[in-house]
Amino acid sequence: MKKNFLNLGKQPIANSFLSSISKKSLKNEYFYRLIICFDTKNFLVSVKNPVNPKIQYTDKYAHRASESQTMRKAFKSAAKKLQKRFKPRKVMEIGSNDGVFLKNFPKKKVIAVEPCKNLANLTKKKFKTYPNFWNKKLSNKISKKHSKVDLIFSSNTISHIPNLKESFEAINNILSDRGVLVIEDPSLSSVIKINSYDQFYDEHVYVFSALSISNIVKNYQLKLFDVEKISNHGGSLRYFITKKKNPFKITSRLNKIINEEKKQGLNNFATFKKFAKKVEKSKQKLVALLTKLKKKNKKIISYGATYKSTTVFNYCKIDNKFFHYVTDTTKNKQGKFTPGMHIPILSPEKGFNESVDYAYLGAWNFKKEIMNKEKDYLKRGGRFITHVPQVRIIK
Ligand code: TYD
Repeated sequence: MKKNFLNLGKQPIANSFLSSISKKSLKNEYFYRLIICFDTKNFLVSVKNPVNPKIQYTDKYAHRASESQTMRKAFKSAAKKLQKRFKPRKVMEIGSNDGVFLKNFPKKKVIAVEPCKNLANLTKKKFKTYPNFWNKKLSNKISKKHSKVDLIFSSNTISHIPNLKESFEAINNILSDRGVLVIEDPSLSSVIKINSYDQFYDEHVYVFSALSISNIVKNYQLKLFDVEKISNHGGSLRYFITKKKNPFKITSRLNKIINEEKKQGLNNFATFKKFAKKVEKSKQKLVALLTKLKKKNKKIISYGATYKSTTVFNYCKIDNKFFHYVTDTTKNKQGKFTPGMHIPILSPEKGFNESVDYAYLGAWNFKKEIMNKEKDYLKRGGRFITHVPQVRIIK
């Protein structure tokens, strides 16, 4: 049975940065109600009413995985480790973005699947790319043309696809008998621990745990045999899945993580009700802090036009009365406006200057990288604000 525990209110599509805030474009802006629920049967946490993927993953999709040094390094190291452990003859990535992971393998070995045409165009010259949504039809088409795949990798994508049945059946269809499916997604355990409620937005239809993944894959003749904690996006899990009949042994670290999750109460609805109360408090504290700073005439901006901050801004009703603007290094976000709250986005060169007193960390998942980069800002008295793990000022 699915039980609701968190209502994040009226939200726009997190990636729908607006080119204009004319009356006409605002009239067309799409909103939905973001409600999060818990399935008491398989312990899966999900968005109650997922948005249609066709309006999310368009040829204007803004996220470029290569944009941060942290992620470039993380994908390179993942590729190296997976190559060494599984020695795949063929590698396929579902949601290959700009190719940041696949470029670490020989071109001939790889198949990319990416429904956002602007991103698929970036990789199609380099390696075989299918500009399509992942489903059974596509998996049939690919298996007719290529041999079965030994390694299917999917980072921050399976959690985005509403139809898990179709996703896993399509995967099973193309996975070789000794093949391994590796998926990476933000971990529910970390979200609860660090109160990162902004991991909930339209694209994150699911926030997985080892508990829920192990339950779900069983329905598709697959088994979870290993799991690894990784630091991506404030704490993620890398799941290792194979066909049921495969002799891969269940690892001790999987058992350990499952036990930790049970101890944390990720199989218990009460945990999520408690979390929802903390989220409400976080909102009150953030708004109170920003209001206080505004009264002191401080200039506050936001650093990193993330999808996550779409949730925070719209839930807390933070608009350009609080933040002068948002800065972001991604070219195709610059000059646009944030979804729902319509705060202008500038390049850091234009916006991250002497006049800034406080910068809210929209990209808190890159805190380390940003603190390193912005030492001079901190030295001259500039401050960061974050809501993770609690609302506070970083000096
Ligand atoms: P991302 O991590 O993809 O978060 P989400 O999935 O919530 O969108 O986005 C990070 C954003 O922050 C991305 O648009 C690039 C931007 N960014 C900066 O502007 N400066 C930086 O130094 C870093 C590391 C990222």
